Amino acid sequence: MRLQGKVAIVTGAAQGIGRAIALAYAREGASVVVADMNADGARGVADEIAALGGPAGAAPFQIDVRDKDRAEAMVAAAVADFGGLDILVNNAGLLEIRPFFDTDEALWDKMFDVNCKGLLWCSQAAARRMVEQGRGGKIINLASQAGRRGEALVLAYCASKACVINMTQSMALALAPHKINVNAISPGVVDTAAWVKLDQQFADLLGMEPGEPKRTFTASIPLGRIEQPEDLTGMAIFLASAESDYITQQTYNVDGGNWPS
Ligand SMILES: NC(=O)c1ccc[n+]([C@@H]2O[C@H](COP(=O)([O-])OP(=O)(O)OC[C@H]3O[C@@H](n4cnc5c(N)ncnc54)[C@H](O)[C@@H]3O)[C@@H](O)[C@H]2O)c1
Repeated sequence: MRLQGKVAIVTGAAQGIGRAIALAYAREGASVVVADMNADGARGVADEIAALGGPAGAAPFQIDVRDKDRAEAMVAAAVADFGGLDILVNNAGLLEIRPFFDTDEALWDKMFDVNCKGLLWCSQAAARRMVEQGRGGKIINLASQAGRRGEALVLAYCASKACVINMTQSMALALAPHKINVNAISPGVVDTAAWVKLDQQFADLLGMEPGEPKRTFTASIPLGRIEQPEDLTGMAIFLASAESDYITQQTYNVDGGNWPS
């Protein structure tokens, strides 16, 4: 078990990628705060972890990551429930496409509030505790292949994920003196509920049949299949473990070879 005795918070963990990472961390021995806006979903995943019967605990926590006070309360809950905090995964994110001319202030603000500002509040709260503890820590951000380059129909989301990659670098430099590693994972096309919605949005905009956008995007993935949330857990465990102690500031593509750098 590579995370035995560690305490992790995973945001957006009620479903999809966050749920897979929360379960994987628990299997590696970490106690997990399953944080999400969706309280019932978070409780369900915490129950799934408890049912694994491992050494570690799990606790659901209801949060909108845009709320700075709730971010502080989330860290306090981790400390109260499990005695400290070692790992934060900033996974909560909003995925939505909108053509350039239709990108309005409401979408822009929502996208940056959740994907970037929320990430900052959660990271500040977690890092403050990690600095206080004096035993280092790990912060892992979910970026995206969309943050590596622009897309005509995806301007705001692409920009917010480019921001996540850049924030990862600044945070890593700010926290390096405290032995807190900050890295990011950049997934490709992951088969989650988010992609059901995206598929519909692409289909409407491109005049395709539902399911066709997902098939088209999947067809160009070099490894030849759509990504599953579990494909991301190996990197998420590695970046949370001692094996990555000398790595910081990096964003790793885990995308089936979809994007080269
Ligand atoms: N699915 C993909 O293809 C893909 C690709 C690249 C990157 N990502 C990134 O991975 C992360 C997870 O994606 P997913 O596909 O599992 O998404 P998802 O939509 O299936 O799940 C997101 C979870 O985050 C929660 N959430 C949303 N806004 C929140 C908020 N303000 N506060 C707290 N919780 C909130 C939701 O309730 C949900 O449980 C996101 O950051 C996303 O941008 C996903």
